[in-house]
Amino acid sequence: MNFQTCLMVILINLSAAVTAQNYGCFGGNYTSNSTYATNLNSLISSLPPNINDNGFLNATAGQTPDRAYATALCRTDFQKESCRSCIREAADELLRSLCPNRRQGILFKLICTLRYSDESLSGGAGAESYTIYSRSGQARFPEQFNQKLRALLRGLREQAAAGGPLMKIAAGNETAPDYQTVFALVQCTPDLSEMGCTTCLISSEQFICCENNTGAVVYRPGCYLQFGVAPFYNLSRIEEVRAMILPLPPPVPAPPLPSSPGNGDSNTTRTVIIILVPIVASLLIAACVGNYIRKRLKTKTEHIILENDEEDVSGEESLIYNFKELAAATDNFSDSNKLGQGGFGAVYKGELQSGQQIAVKRLSRNSGQGELEFKNEVVLMAKLQHRNLVRLLGFSLQGTERLLVYEFVHNGSLDCFIFDPVKRLLIDWESRYKIIKGIAKGLVYLHEDSPQRIIHRDLKASNILLDTDNNPKISDFGMARLFEQDETGGNTGRIVGTYGYMAPEYAQNGNFSIKSDVFSFGVLMLEIISGQSNNSFKNVENGENVEYMLSFAWRNWCAGRGKKMIDPALMSTSGSLRDMLKCIHIGLMCVQQNTSDRPTMASVVVMLHSFSVTFPVPSQPAYFVPGGVEEMSRSLAIKPTEISKNEASITELYPR
Ligand SMILES: *[C@@H]1O[C@H](CO)[C@@H](O)[C@H](O)[C@H]1NC(C)=O
Ligand SMILES: *[C@@H]1O[C@H](CO)[C@@H](O)[C@H](O)[C@H]1NC(C)=O
Ligand SMILES: *[C@@H]1O[C@H](CO)[C@@H](O)[C@H](O)[C@H]1NC(C)=O
Ligand SMILES: *[C@@H]1O[C@H](CO)[C@@H](O)[C@H](O)[C@H]1NC(C)=O
Ligand SMILES: *[C@@H]1O[C@H](CO)[C@@H](O)[C@H](O)[C@H]1NC(C)=O
Ligand SMILES: *[C@@H]1O[C@H](CO)[C@@H](O)[C@H](O)[C@H]1NC(C)=O
Ligand SMILES: *[C@@H]1O[C@H](CO)[C@@H](O)[C@H](O)[C@H]1NC(C)=O
Ligand SMILES: *[C@@H]1O[C@H](CO)[C@@H](O)[C@H](O)[C@H]1NC(C)=O
Ligand SMILES: *[C@@H]1O[C@H](CO)[C@@H](O)[C@H](O)[C@H]1NC(C)=O
Ligand SMILES: *[C@@H]1O[C@H](CO)[C@@H](O)[C@H](O)[C@H]1NC(C)=O
Ligand SMILES: *[C@@H]1O[C@H](CO)[C@@H](O)[C@H](O)[C@H]1NC(C)=O
Repeated sequence: MNFQTCLMVILINLSAAVTAQNYGCFGGNYTSNSTYATNLNSLISSLPPNINDNGFLNATAGQTPDRAYATALCRTDFQKESCRSCIREAADELLRSLCPNRRQGILFKLICTLRYSDESLSGGAGAESYTIYSRSGQARFPEQFNQKLRALLRGLREQAAAGGPLMKIAAGNETAPDYQTVFALVQCTPDLSEMGCTTCLISSEQFICCENNTGAVVYRPGCYLQFGVAPFYNLSRIEEVRAMILPLPPPVPAPPLPSSPGNGDSNTTRTVIIILVPIVASLLIAACVGNYIRKRLKTKTEHIILENDEEDVSGEESLIYNFKELAAATDNFSDSNKLGQGGFGAVYKGELQSGQQIAVKRLSRNSGQGELEFKNEVVLMAKLQHRNLVRLLGFSLQGTERLLVYEFVHNGSLDCFIFDPVKRLLIDWESRYKIIKGIAKGLVYLHEDSPQRIIHRDLKASNILLDTDNNPKISDFGMARLFEQDETGGNTGRIVGTYGYMAPEYAQNGNFSIKSDVFSFGVLMLEIISGQSNNSFKNVENGENVEYMLSFAWRNWCAGRGKKMIDPALMSTSGSLRDMLKCIHIGLMCVQQNTSDRPTMASVVVMLHSFSVTFPVPSQPAYFVPGGVEEMSRSLAIKPTEISKNEASITELYPR
């Protein structure tokens, strides 16, 4: 393999693509009608559905010499769904656009790594020389900081390496000087030996430790390392997976097992995929038994859920509210109890006899749905429960009246705060950052983790409610479902969004997808940072050119003047400028014209929580209206890479 040349190529490429998605292509070319192409394609498409709970999969398809090998590894602290979509995206990018027709490739994404090859991939060998890392931040007391960091990384490395054949990951924190806490996570592909994992991590550490930085990330084919002074991982997910996978049941000889690997699950894939489990046959058996037990557990849980469901259904009654009761609770829907008027009807504050406070939405439009469909939708929506979603408590149907009953969220909607000259002072950067992260998490739940994919389609500041601790809760989700049938994404004659937040493809053609929600989220995030609403934002330069928010943000951000976007009320507080700029950057990535350039909400959450990863440079946003011509040309004179170096962090490639 000619790594030398490849690395040179990448080195050059990388300056143009300082992105978090780094990749390499190796080996010769194959033709698209070859057996290898067939094997590779079926292998790659079989990966996402078969990925294990530990986020790792080592698979192969076909026979030598056309045999294809692949491995996928996700950060174990992410949910399986996010992992699957990461690998799906990675496969698509790698095969279609990054390494078309190349026999070998590797792609590092924020939460997953995908490799494929025409040669056996044993324990991170081969592309082992391939390392990508990024560093950021400067410790104020480097010696003490490095000392703490070293100790932390050593402990985690030992813990991860000793993790056994199914899971090698460890995360933890350590108090550091300057009132900081340093958080770190290390992970190896579980097929590495304890020694192999240790070696991989030690050499990763050499790239970044200890150069006095307060954050860094290293990607290698066999292992992953990240640290920073803000938490970025989910320890409870790691524990959850560990409990699912370990402790291993004792290996038992089980003759029928090897003949049916996957226990029938793989019936769905027609190609024979052999999942190779390293070293000892007993491990294979152990894994199968583990798998079997997990399945048993799973069916058991499903069973429990089913029982709950039945209760729910028989107690669908519990979701039904009496119309009179609600009328009484809201003083016959009096104007004095009116909280607001949305596209689907007015919302009233109410208090039930029990003293419970509620919000009642009185649907104004006839949904055209029968009672049964309406009920079904409401039952589904009531099942969506997340701390960042307003909880639906029930409904009432009486004649033509359709009411939805929600939990009452005390502090009102976000627009009343951020767009108000006085109240905006009440929410400092820390709160706004928390709000941004909360909204993002709520959307990930709607898009990926909920029982059914929900596209909000009308995300905006007035649909974000704040509770007494200023936790954000998304409201009005699923409303489109009550009026439209197919919600998996597509094209609709009826556009339900709000002017100012709508993605161009939705506003113009009615095409909606999770990426149109991402667009609205981007606008919302920029509003939260700037304290101005898109629809009232106007930058008038020389009394001539009128410029709107997205253009203004992009132009200034590109010219290294991202600060101009920031609400002056925030600049006087102790908020982290770095985080604000990071949010502007992410916001601009979300409002890009091309839907496939926009990140998914899951990636947004990763970016919001990561400290040191370099993000792709966003392209010009949709609705771009150039501002002052002179300024424009000046900003374009700056290369994107320089910007990302100045404002994000430095990514370097280190060939070994
Ligand atoms: C593979 O194909 C590309 C163009 O399709 C060509 O530029 C490249 O030289 C080929 N590489 C090898 C190793 O044959
Ligand atoms: C693949 O297609 C090319 C031309 O399109 C043809 O020359 C070649 O024989 C084909 N190979 C196979 C294995 O079908
Ligand atoms: C995949 O499995 C094969 C067969 O057990 C093993 O030789 C190889 O090391 C594994 N590779 C990876 C990267 O896990
Ligand atoms: C740091 O780790 C300890 C366990 O070692 C944990 O109890 C604590 O909550 C962590 N601190 C933070 C800020 O996450
Ligand atoms: C790290 O800090 C130490 C102590 O201040 C200093 O001597 C050293 O040059 C710094 N190293 C780097 C790479 O900046
Ligand atoms: C962390 O993982 C747990 C367990 O899967 C999950 O319930 C929780 O929502 C996750 N937290 C975050 C912040 O994603
Ligand atoms: C609501 O209206 C009903 C009749 O329409 C009336 O009997 C009742 O007193 C009203 N309640 C309130 C609180 O105004
Ligand atoms: C939210 O409500 C609580 C309790 O009513 C209040 O103490 C807090 O100041 C409110 N927050 C804001 C930002 O107004
Ligand atoms: C933001 O507002 C401006 C001016 O009202 C409008 O032209 C633009 O389309 C809006 N942006 C979006 C994303 O709708
Ligand atoms: C919108 O959807 C229609 C049909 O579903 C499709 O033909 C069109 O290309 C889509 N437009 C965009 C911009 O995605
Ligand atoms: C959007 O981006 C994708 C991948 O970068 C590209 O294939 C596609 O052609 C682009 N679409 C448009 C309309 O520019």
